Amino acid sequence: MNRLQGKVAIVTGAGAGIGRATAELFAEEGASVTIAEVDPKSGAETANAICRSGGQAIFVATDVADESSVQRMVAETVREFGRIDVLVNNAVVFVLRGIEATPEEWRRSFDVNVMGPALVAKHAVPEMRKVGGGAIVNLGSISSFIAQPQHATYNSAKAAVSSMTRCMALDLAKDNIRVNAACPGAVWTQIVEGRCREAGMDRAAAEADPAWGGAHILKRIADPREIAYAILFLASDEASFVTGSNMMVDGGYTAL
Ligand SMILES: NC(=O)c1ccc[n+]([C@@H]2O[C@H](COP(=O)([O-])OP(=O)(O)OC[C@H]3O[C@@H](n4cnc5c(N)ncnc54)[C@H](O)[C@@H]3O)[C@@H](O)[C@H]2O)c1
Repeated sequence: MNRLQGKVAIVTGAGAGIGRATAELFAEEGASVTIAEVDPKSGAETANAICRSGGQAIFVATDVADESSVQRMVAETVREFGRIDVLVNNAVVFVLRGIEATPEEWRRSFDVNVMGPALVAKHAVPEMRKVGGGAIVNLGSISSFIAQPQHATYNSAKAAVSSMTRCMALDLAKDNIRVNAACPGAVWTQIVEGRCREAGMDRAAAEADPAWGGAHILKRIADPREIAYAILFLASDEASFVTGSNMMVDGGYTAL
């Protein structure tokens, strides 16, 4: 219940999916949470839901690809909660394109998925230094490490996130800031649900499909909360000797 007691966390893209599950779990564990989300409706809804359940959260409209927006969000977090201890770089755009991708599609994927985490870290780290340290958790993926059809724009960005994780861990160790990535397999969020439904599959059918649930050793698709627990571990003091790691939370997908 108190694994993040007294800590202040920023979770980007916390209006939906894994980000929302993480923000909710962090609040249950005692953290004050900034919901840094580009979509005002889902961002406000997540913050309100946390507050209604007795937790502490604010929504700050944020585009992680826009440095001035990120700076405003960090300033607002410090104004409201006084400090920053934890950053979860979760926001994403799923640009799923292969060789035919346009320069705009490549830029969009890298602006949000790579530049976004870099910019938020850049502005959150000085606040972590002021309080003597902190933890950054980036969202990598199985897609950081494997090839998938028509995924070049997304998988290249996720590979960059995993590499950035190691480099930042090295640079920030002296500041007592740990940097890790959680790397999920398929998770039942809007992108996976949408693609499965397009292919005519409900969740049960998707879990049984060899390309979806069947591709994991555990033969199913994860719930967002199962990823949130791994992020919680990496963000908490329990992971005090873990840095620079890309932790697979993939139901065994990459072990096969
Ligand atoms: N869903 C999966 O199967 C899966 C698998 C592996 C890794 N991941 C990773 O987990 C993370 C979350 O994925 P998800 O499926 O929960 O995503 P999601 O699409 O459900 O939620 C992403 C959120 O990010 C927000 N967002 C988009 N652009 C933004 C921006 N510029 N600034 C701020 N917020 C922005 C969206 O509005 C949305 O609320 C991502 O980093 C993704 O790459 C997901």
